Amino acid sequence: MPQQSPKPQPRKPQPKPNRQKPTSSKPQPAPTSPIKLQPQQSLKASAYTELTADLQICRLINGMWQVSGSHGTIMPQRAIAAMYKYHQAGFNCWDLADHYGPAEDFIGAFRRKLKADRLDDGPHASKAFTKWVPKPGGGNISSITVTEKIQLALRRMGQAQLDLLHFHWWDYEDKRYLDALKHLTDLQAAGKIRHLGLTNFDTEHLQIVLDAGIPIVTNQIQFSLLDQRPLVSMSELCQQHDIKLLAYGTICGSFISSDFLGKPDLSRFQLNTASLRKYKNIIEAWGGWALFQELLSTLKTIADKHSVSISNVASRYVLEQPAVAGVIIGARLGVSEHIRDNARIFDFELDAVDREMIYAICDRSNDLFKYLGDCGSEYRG
Ligand SMILES: NC(=O)c1ccc[n+]([C@@H]2O[C@H](COP(=O)([O-])OP(=O)(O)OC[C@H]3O[C@@H](n4cnc5c(N)ncnc54)[C@H](OP(=O)(O)O)[C@@H]3O)[C@@H](O)[C@H]2O)c1
Repeated sequence: MPQQSPKPQPRKPQPKPNRQKPTSSKPQPAPTSPIKLQPQQSLKASAYTELTADLQICRLINGMWQVSGSHGTIMPQRAIAAMYKYHQAGFNCWDLADHYGPAEDFIGAFRRKLKADRLDDGPHASKAFTKWVPKPGGGNISSITVTEKIQLALRRMGQAQLDLLHFHWWDYEDKRYLDALKHLTDLQAAGKIRHLGLTNFDTEHLQIVLDAGIPIVTNQIQFSLLDQRPLVSMSELCQQHDIKLLAYGTICGSFISSDFLGKPDLSRFQLNTASLRKYKNIIEAWGGWALFQELLSTLKTIADKHSVSISNVASRYVLEQPAVAGVIIGARLGVSEHIRDNARIFDFELDAVDREMIYAICDRSNDLFKYLGDCGSEYRG
């Protein structure tokens, strides 16, 4: 995950996201029977969807930026034991990156253990989506270096093929991102990569990639109650091309939870994870702490009505948006854990009254699209 954080922006008038009918009432493609790896541990069928015809995922993906070191100390053995727990609860998909510290190695160790215990077969087998994030400046983008990069990920993750690789690029002026993607499609043809996705690409450049004939299945972007920029144009393009959005930042590093309801504003220096520090900037750009507290109060009312948590409501809101296949929620493996609470995301749907209450707050916030630009612009320029 790129580390550069968006800058706070002054308050301005409200965004006009292209709100469409929520997708929650539509059946998800081909749900399977509930997963039962152990008695009493299961997620509903609606927790799963087909990202592609040959890749079924849990719609809540476990995010591994949180093991990178900037979110507290992670003990490898405890982390891998925790991964096992997530998998047994039905959360069988992992999001990681080449630069998330030991994340790719953890996947390798974890999958070896699953395999030994015969828990990695069938539609609910584990899935691991890594990223290739070239350094700013791009570096050497030759067929050889790209191949080496992918071979390294395969070795670390102990796999013959990557399930899905997300590709990030820092500078659109440097058109070599198309060369890099071309090399990746060659590796896909050679069987090293099953599917290709992008991360933090905006609508214009996703279109350019599609026009170049690159077969993209996902774009991983920030999408939350605070950041609804994907609704402006990204989700429409994705729907046209059957590209799925995987959303991060959905609970803003835990800001959108009861932990911060009624709490005073904190400075970035008082926040103990890189994730919280990142989303503190988003809260400031969106409208500030007082408006954010109003949002949390409203979410609490909705959460109580459905007997779920504030975080559940925030995740559910994003899951019900057009083109969204999944939300990625970070897990500080072996440090903290929200398995039981997050399982409830699949127990309810938001109704029209809930959405109106949410819009009433969000309509008073700033226009992040105008301030930051389209998806991923905060990482560029
Ligand atoms: N492509 C990119 O550029 C990019 C950028 C950012 C993130 N990501 C991906 O998205 C993942 C998520 O990262 P994020 O930074 O956006 O964080 P996030 O998912 O918004 O927040 C993660 C934190 O939320 C808390 N949490 C989780 N479930 C909760 C619940 N039910 N109730 C209350 N708190 C809960 C936990 O905090 P505690 O541990 O303190 O309990 C957890 O560490 C990353 O790991 C990464 O895979 C990708």
